[in-house]
Amino acid sequence: MALPAFTFDPHPSPVDADERARLLVDPGFGRVFTDHMVTIRYSSAAGWHDARIGPREPLTIDTATAVLHYAQEIFEGLKAYRLADGGTALFRPERNAARFRDSARRMAMAELPEALFLESIRRLVQTEREWIPTLDGGALYLRPFMIASEVFLGVKPSAEYIFAVIASSVGAYFKGGAPAVSLWISENYTRAAPGGTGAAKCGGNYASSLVAQAEAIRQGCDQVLFLDAAERRWIEELGGMNIFFVFDDGMLATPPLTGTILPGITRDSILRIARDLGFEVREEPYAIDQCRADAESGRLREAFACGTAAVVTPIGRMLSRQGDFTIGGGGPGQTTQRLRQTLVGIQTGVAEDRHGWLERL
Ligand code: COI
Repeated sequence: MALPAFTFDPHPSPVDADERARLLVDPGFGRVFTDHMVTIRYSSAAGWHDARIGPREPLTIDTATAVLHYAQEIFEGLKAYRLADGGTALFRPERNAARFRDSARRMAMAELPEALFLESIRRLVQTEREWIPTLDGGALYLRPFMIASEVFLGVKPSAEYIFAVIASSVGAYFKGGAPAVSLWISENYTRAAPGGTGAAKCGGNYASSLVAQAEAIRQGCDQVLFLDAAERRWIEELGGMNIFFVFDDGMLATPPLTGTILPGITRDSILRIARDLGFEVREEPYAIDQCRADAESGRLREAFACGTAAVVTPIGRMLSRQGDFTIGGGGPGQTTQRLRQTLVGIQTGVAEDRHGWLERL
């Protein structure tokens, strides 16, 4: 099937260079947006069509549009980096394209060809590269998403979709670039059940995490930690990121991909980087009671969260109704720092990219 050609409609009044520079001093996460966006439409009759880069603007949709009622929606998150030599690069974007397709399949949505996903990302980054902040840890966060756009209230897969990509200049995900974050172990809520949508990147997974995340904030924590839905025993993932553990014998572990956990691209990259650095790495279930006992005995030395937005963020403390415990010294551990440094080094072109993960634009 031939892919649609893109049209380019430049923004009539893009943000000027001075205003952009002011916005990029301290952009935070997800509040500063660039001038343009990609849109591509789909209908079962016409296939993918009307590929366009135009001004970033509101979408006008009918109040009976399917996504507003039944949440048939998926998204991705990836970053464009400013390289040490001044170039621009994406990190493993083909993995996001493949996961987007997997998510679409799970949500009974039209599958966007991976080549079209990738071309959308490349074109938007080429249009908006001045929006990549120069601050340490800064990047252009790309947010591709797709909504069911058929105007119909019957419960069935939509026959029409809108795919869009917006871009946001970002710094650290956690306020003030927190040295180590704390987790609230959720006992009341779970994120995903076997057979559910846990491995898909759909908005509903994040919507259902919010009440637990709000509870975490009320308890003075940064993120919620979810346990498995069946036994409420096994550690799964955080509200919006995966989790790793580092033990006193140098072993690393992360929960396995059983269908209830998001298959994170940062997670996969850390697994490979850690093996490259000579660590033994296991993907295996880890019970919360064991985690507490290991933290208390000193066997568990470090823990960290990872994701595109969070990068690699040390976890210092976990809290629950049973009380709290500290992991290692409660701050960033050596292995966590080393893994973060290697990952960010590859992403910014200063560390050896032995797997060919970087795509220069
Ligand atoms: C990401 O890390 O890109 C995510 O999607 C997590 C969150 C911001 C939703």
